[in-house]
Amino acid sequence: PAPTPGFPLPTVHTQEAFDPAVAFTSKWTRADAKQIMAQSNPNVAPGQNSMSPNVTMPEIPKDFPAMNDDVWVWDTWSLTDQNANQISYKGWDVIFSLVADRHAGYGFDQRHWNARIGYFFRKTNADPAKDKWNYGGHLFLDNTSIGNTEWSGSTRLMQGDHVNVFYTATTFYDRAERNAGGGGIAPDAVIAKALGNIHADQNGVTFDGFQHTKLLEPDGKLYQTKAQNAGFAFRDPYTFEDPAHPGQTFMVFEGNTAGNRGSYKCTDADLGYQQGDPHAENTNTVNTTTGSWFQTASVGLAVADNKDLTQWHFLPPILSANCVNDQTERPQIFIQNENGKNKYYLFTISHQFTYADGMRGPDGVYGFVGNGVRSDFQPVNNSGLALGSPTDLNLPANNPSGTQSAQQNGRQFQAYSHYVQPGGLVQSFIDNVDGVRGGSLSPTVKINFAGGVTQVDRSFGKNGLGPFGYLPTNVRVGGEGLY
Ligand code: FRU
Repeated sequence: PAPTPGFPLPTVHTQEAFDPAVAFTSKWTRADAKQIMAQSNPNVAPGQNSMSPNVTMPEIPKDFPAMNDDVWVWDTWSLTDQNANQISYKGWDVIFSLVADRHAGYGFDQRHWNARIGYFFRKTNADPAKDKWNYGGHLFLDNTSIGNTEWSGSTRLMQGDHVNVFYTATTFYDRAERNAGGGGIAPDAVIAKALGNIHADQNGVTFDGFQHTKLLEPDGKLYQTKAQNAGFAFRDPYTFEDPAHPGQTFMVFEGNTAGNRGSYKCTDADLGYQQGDPHAENTNTVNTTTGSWFQTASVGLAVADNKDLTQWHFLPPILSANCVNDQTERPQIFIQNENGKNKYYLFTISHQFTYADGMRGPDGVYGFVGNGVRSDFQPVNNSGLALGSPTDLNLPANNPSGTQSAQQNGRQFQAYSHYVQPGGLVQSFIDNVDGVRGGSLSPTVKINFAGGVTQVDRSFGKNGLGPFGYLPTNVRVGGEGLY
């Protein structure tokens, strides 16, 4: 592409695939992420949306319905198979969400410290615009999961009515901190799974018999540990099979580049400028004046060593965002055939406040495309931004649970935790719509993507907004639900 005046060119990425086991980590570079501002309108009136409509989530109405009156609902995923198909089980659609008690005396921003995995079910032939999701309660019995807080993951239907729930077992050590919301002793985090049974009858869906196994802890060599950084991220497992490597099960997850906090040095490759680019930054200057070395997000990869998926080993990260952003959360791999060739889309969510010095982007979902699970990934739309909440990127970044600039677009935190489903349907949860706090699922939107370009489909639903919490299924297992 031709450069935007005043901005550098993005990095050249070949999309070439490598063996999943080799030490090649694709970089989301500063030159790539600078395209977010290159594609943003510098001249909007303060507080308007400055991003292209192609990557802007339509505005959620302020009078959105609550999905459930007793629990806040945020990160959500469907019952899937190994190929990201969404499974209707004996006539029921089933989804899993992080939930927290709305009546326990803590606020919405303290939900992370009190998170449990809950589940909902709804008849597969229900009208998504009218029929509510039925709340099934907590998935696991109290005090049975590994850790004392359950964070995000994914759920796979296995043979014989078994399910494997892959989740983040986070352990907080300080009750006061859980109530106050942060600032206390850093939590531990491990990736775990629970193997259990799913049951369905005419009344709905239940689960039982969960057996929990610890799968992975950060090693400090590929993935940062708590000892290296109290603010480390190690979470959000998502498993899948790759047709290019039959018989193997892979997992992507959120990590950080290993090493002691503050010791990382940004490299020329992290910056990713083309030679002679007049708008390139100098690596030495970035390393001495910006603080960008504190932002070291990665998307991790692991592979299962046995059929029971109880033993895993780490592979090098498939993506790093060193000196660009500190969090690449809830990664997913979505394989799509384009012109007879499998294209691997990596989607991951990120925040505006986790960007490195000199970088600016919205809360939303980011995408990368390549020819394999491990590729020299090309950021979608050249920038990586696939879909963000309406934001005036000309104003400084805010934090969703901190003070927000009165001038800023009131919908900058309208939605987060975007989860890409078959057909480009994107699910998320409502966080803050112009001051009204959420804790409920957003209207589903649709993005069309091919050739590394994504575009919000404004012909979907009402001006681009589909039904609230629309997570349809595309594969039926166990019959039509006639009991
Ligand atoms: C995304 C997220 C996940 C984490 C969960 C904790 O919204 O930060 O990475 O598992 O929320 O609430």
